[in-house]
Amino acid sequence: MLLLFAIVPAGRAQKNHEVCQNCHEDKLNDYKAHKHFASGFSCDACHGESEQHAGSNAAIAPDRVSRGHEIPELCGSCHGDAQKQYAASKHAALVLAKAGTKAPECATCHGHHRPRTAAHTLAQCQKCHAKLSEAHPKMESDTQCWTCHSPHTLKIASP
Ligand code: HEC
Ligand code: HEC
Ligand code: HEC
Ligand code: HEC
Ligand code: HEC
Ligand code: HEC
Repeated sequence: MLLLFAIVPAGRAQKNHEVCQNCHEDKLNDYKAHKHFASGFSCDACHGESEQHAGSNAAIAPDRVSRGHEIPELCGSCHGDAQKQYAASKHAALVLAKAGTKAPECATCHGHHRPRTAAHTLAQCQKCHAKLSEAHPKMESDTQCWTCHSPHTLKIASP
């Protein structure tokens, strides 16, 4: 279920990105393929209006730049269920504690702007989990890690 707190005001939908386009066309092109764009959210949904940033040729920082440990809260403002599940995982424990160990936040798996394919996300898992224990079930070629593990809690999914 999605909790939608950010309502796009009528008549303003998808205007913010036109301000960003001049300097970040690559990001906009990536973003246009995402359901977020189709749902009417522009860059300001995650970066704030950032008018001063745009008007100052980046001398002033964007209104909102999220560090890794802040991203679950950013995404969770609309994806509350996913955030709650993720918060119970070992991944979250490491990320939220700003531990030295590299662990994934939402965007490590889902990307920032361009939507990820399952193959791309699987490659992320395998990059960090190159070696699983001897006892770990062997992977079939047509399975993904989340055939068995819930991708957010990491628990073995009940059938
Ligand atoms: C006049 C050019 C210009 C405009 C317009 C512009 N930006 Fe930027 N922006 C930059 C430059 C230059 C950087 C630094 C290099 C980079 O990360 O691409 C930057 C960096 C950023 C960053 C990364 C900041 C960081 O600390 O990592 C974000 C996020 C961002 N811009 C968002 C936006 C958004 C959203 C808009 C539209 C409201 C926008 N920008 C409009 C030039 C611009
Ligand atoms: C769903 C949330 C979301 C939306 C919508 C979004 N971004 Fe981002 N973006 C992020 C996150 C998270 C990062 C990484 C941390 C940060 O800079 O906030 C990021 C990073 C960036 C960066 C820094 C370079 C990089 O890739 O790390 C730029 C530039 C940027 N975004 C521009 C934009 C522009 C332009 C738009 C609209 C076309 C946009 N973003 C829409 C979440 C978003
Ligand atoms: C302003 C609200 C909002 C924010 C912030 C937001 N999302 Fe979304 N997200 C949505 C909506 C609405 C959809 C579309 C739901 C649908 O059509 O099924 C969506 C869809 C998705 C999907 C499914 C895409 C697909 O192709 O099926 C993923 C994954 C996702 N968001 C991840 C994220 C991540 C990661 C972040 C943070 C970087 C984030 N979202 C931030 C509202 C948001
Ligand atoms: C370790 C990688 C990973 C992390 C971290 C992660 N996700 Fe996901 N997420 C996935 C995968 C894989 C799927 C697809 C599951 C499937 O297809 O059955 C998914 C599915 C989703 C979906 C669409 C289906 C649903 O459950 O509604 C949304 C929205 C989403 N994630 C949001 C988030 C948010 C928000 C965060 C951070 C709080 C997050 N994810 C963290 C891997 C991840
Ligand atoms: C950026 C690196 C990184 C990525 C990407 C990543 N993980 Fe992890 N993962 C970790 C770390 C670090 C731990 C904690 C290891 C420990 O405590 O021994 C962990 C722990 C786990 C655990 C054990 C959880 C537990 O409770 O013991 C599972 C299962 C897991 N990850 C599955 C996945 C899956 C599935 C994906 C992809 C959807 C993924 N990971 C992506 C770094 C990563
Ligand atoms: C066929 C089901 C299945 C698949 C597919 C699967 N796992 Fe597991 N995994 C398990 C089971 C069962 C355990 C035993 C621990 C448990 O009950 O949580 C486990 C345990 C783990 C652990 C804990 C430590 C260890 O090495 O045993 C990690 C980390 C892990 N899996 C990561 C992954 C990653 C990453 C992938 C994808 C490359 C993956 N798993 C695919 C079933 C699976």
